[in-house]
Amino acid sequence: MEEPEGRGAAGAGGRGSDRPAVLPVELTALEPGDAEPAPTGVGELDRVLGGGLVPGSVTLLGGEPGVGKSTLLLQVVGSMAAAGARCLLVSAEESGAQVRRRAERLQAARQGVWLVAETAIDGIRAAVDQVRPDVVVVDSIQTVWDPALESAPGSVAQVRGCAHELARLAREGDRAVVLVGHVTKDGALAGPRVLEHLVDTVLAFEGDRHHALRMLRAVKHRFGPTGELGLFEMTDAGMKGLPDASGVFLGDRRHGSPGSVVFPAVEGHRPLLVEIQALTVASGLPAPRRSVSGLDQGRLGLLLAVLDRRASVVTGKHDVYLSAVGGVRVTEPGADLAVCLAVASACQALPVPQDVVVVGEVGLGGEVRQVAHTARRLAEAARLGFARAVVPQSAPSELPLPAVRVGTLRAAVRNVLGDPADGDPAGSDPAGARPGAPGRLDGWPTA
Ligand code: TYD
Ligand code: MG
Repeated sequence: MEEPEGRGAAGAGGRGSDRPAVLPVELTALEPGDAEPAPTGVGELDRVLGGGLVPGSVTLLGGEPGVGKSTLLLQVVGSMAAAGARCLLVSAEESGAQVRRRAERLQAARQGVWLVAETAIDGIRAAVDQVRPDVVVVDSIQTVWDPALESAPGSVAQVRGCAHELARLAREGDRAVVLVGHVTKDGALAGPRVLEHLVDTVLAFEGDRHHALRMLRAVKHRFGPTGELGLFEMTDAGMKGLPDASGVFLGDRRHGSPGSVVFPAVEGHRPLLVEIQALTVASGLPAPRRSVSGLDQGRLGLLLAVLDRRASVVTGKHDVYLSAVGGVRVTEPGADLAVCLAVASACQALPVPQDVVVVGEVGLGGEVRQVAHTARRLAEAARLGFARAVVPQSAPSELPLPAVRVGTLRAAVRNVLGDPADGDPAGSDPAGARPGAPGRLDGWPTA
């Protein structure tokens, strides 16, 4: 097992191979290369990729079946072909006729788009040699197989081996290769997970089956930052970009109902206003229900404990329902204060004024902590007509909106809703908002 002696001095052909040694070079002596990303023409995708697809790179688009991966990529090849690129679509799942029919609807049936319904890697290689495409889309990597490998199609060895081969085709031909990878809910299927280290970029495509909203994120990206968020709406004519998502999310908001608070989120560089709703109701269960959609379930448990102990908002005998509206998923702790105020507002049947946004992280001690990008968040809120904000005490001094600064959760609840001690017990008012109970916002600064 030991390496033979003198390994370091082996020079050319170390370890006995005939391969010439690769010599180290100083980094400054290297050309940076001219691999500029090529725009895909799908704006929200280009935003996530930081410009477009880089020639010679491999991108993996992962997502659950039905989320819209094939649809999105058909639009990509359609618009790239329209811009003059040669695109090869390897459809290993759907027949040519099926793809053609869908392409008609998406304006992707055009010159410059080639299709090959092929699952064997040799066939794909031959098609690439023939078409010499700038862009290759393989839909999906799980159905591609190499007859030379013994394991079954879809197995880890097959998926890895074929992805290796496709990556070689990308680098040799200086073409962008996009692989579709199906993920199951638990992420278990051979595919995205086993390929992450093999590819340059991993995109995650997500969306709730019951909503039209689709979210695209780069979870790995060798050519730019990750975390940028792309938003689409699934329509009859394919994926439609949502450059102004905040407006869409808040479109159906009902004003004046208790339990609703708007949180200015930031996803990547993108500010996004999200309505957070809470509902509390007296529970008959020994362990009251905590039901969460679009937010972190564990975090709600923690925040309910802090509300109870640090702000006297007691929900121990109530079911609590919490939701981020519109199918978005909010994972930032910066939403803590908005969640807490939504719950407190629901408990006390007192609405939070409609022109207020709330941002801040809440600690176990009931303290309200600063969150990054406060100014950018409030600028988006101002753009959409919000007039006031509740922010942490320590937020930057210059803010785009008049703000009430709170150091503790208790102070936040008191400022926005009044003192819980003077109010009704949690959820005891079935009629909703109590008339003539405006809360304590009267003394607030206005714009
Ligand atoms: P698809 O792109 O096939 O998903 P994936 O490749 O990720 O499995 O999209 C499947 C769903 O999208 C399907 O339920 C129908 C719907 N759809 C639309 O709503 N509009 C469209 O224009 C298209 C092509 C599909
Ligand atoms: Mg598909």
